[in-house]
Amino acid sequence: MKKAVYPGSFDPVTFGHEDMIKRSAAIVDELIVGVLNNSEKNSLFSVGERVSMLKELTKDIPNVTVDSFDGLLVDYMKESGATIIVRGLRAVTDFEYELQIAQTNHVEYPAVETIFLVTNLKYSYLSSSVVREFAAYGGDISKFVPPQFVDRIYRKSNMNK
Ligand code: PNS
Repeated sequence: MKKAVYPGSFDPVTFGHEDMIKRSAAIVDELIVGVLNNSEKNSLFSVGERVSMLKELTKDIPNVTVDSFDGLLVDYMKESGATIIVRGLRAVTDFEYELQIAQTNHVEYPAVETIFLVTNLKYSYLSSSVVREFAAYGGDISKFVPPQFVDRIYRKSNMNK
């Protein structure tokens, strides 16, 4: 039974994340999308809002669940019984940071393996921070995020001004 966690901030979820979720769900038995409860970070959406958007997005994928976690990812891996961490690589600039985290996590918890999926070329430029920036200045975000979230993101960006 291959149980994996796809961890991240998902603030907000993008087409790139959605693509990663679908592709990783197809290669593992069970996938948990793990939203980091990064309270000290200035997030656009609360962790509860991010979890509920991800639940809405993944409701038709039977082997995907959505959860949040605090603290270290390795502790969450132990708690959830998952042994695979899924991360996406957009470009070589992601690699150094991801390699360091993957190696650290493996040292801390040797039963855990990190697998990397190369981001779909269509979304290789995309990040949640780009979406937040465009939304804050009223730019068109419809090419970046699933349609059901576009208005919610604009509303939230305006609330935070
Ligand atoms: O979407 P992000 O912000 O790139 O995701 C980063 C995330 C959540 C995967 C990473 O920050 C993380 O695992 N944080 C939990 C704390 C932790 O375990 N840190 C140790 C990494 S060496």
